[in-house]
Formats: sequence, structure tokens, C-alpha cells
Amino acid sequence: MPQSEGIDPVLNDAYMYVCSSSELEEDDLFECEIGTETIVVGRGEANVYAVQGICSHAHAELVDGELDGTCLTCPLHFACFDIRDGSVLEGPAEAPLQVYKAIEADGSVWVSKERG
Ligand code: FES
Repeated sequence: MPQSEGIDPVLNDAYMYVCSSSELEEDDLFECEIGTETIVVGRGEANVYAVQGICSHAHAELVDGELDGTCLTCPLHFACFDIRDGSVLEGPAEAPLQVYKAIEADGSVWVSKERG
């Protein structure tokens, strides 16, 4: 996924500030809220990604899971999701995670307020 695409998120109401780039190291996860939705942002293989923060299997907070490369493991029953596209890599979860667009610009991490 491209990282900034020339978007100035400060001037673009479509994005929400999450954290500084230096706060999100490789395999780190960071939770934020957009409206009533919980989002988890992670850095995998040097890129930033964002998916829904609650597991699609049951009510587990994915920020308490582990990110290894692009594989996000749920802390409760250990389903694995590809954080790049939200797809299930290993059950027991069957439904994919909702994906949000994440970018880095001006030394910060931003997440789109819109899904997908
Ligand atoms: S709650 Fe995530 S795998 Fe069950």
C-alpha cells in the first residue's frame, strides 16, 4: 500500500491523526477510535495498516494481540488475519476484518475516517 500519495491530512478532513510515526515501530499495534468504531493500527513489513479493532469471531480487542509481519493474531482464540486486507489466514474466525486506509505523512500516522 502506498504510504502518503501526496495527501496533506492536516488539510484533508478525511483522515484522523493516530500517532507519530516514531511511536509505531515494526510489529507494534496502536488502538484508536473513529466515531463509535474501534480501530487497530499496525506497522507490518515497514508499512502501516488499519483494521477494525474488535475480532470478527468474538469480542476480543485486537490491540492485545500480536502482529508478526503482516499476520495479526487475536489474543483470545488465536485466529490470524492478514492486516493488509483483513482476510482470515487461520481460524476459528471465519469473517474478515473491515479494513481502513492508513497512511504516513509529515512524520505521523493517519487513518481514513471512511472504511475500505
Ligand atoms: S475472539 Fe478472536 S479468534 Fe476468537
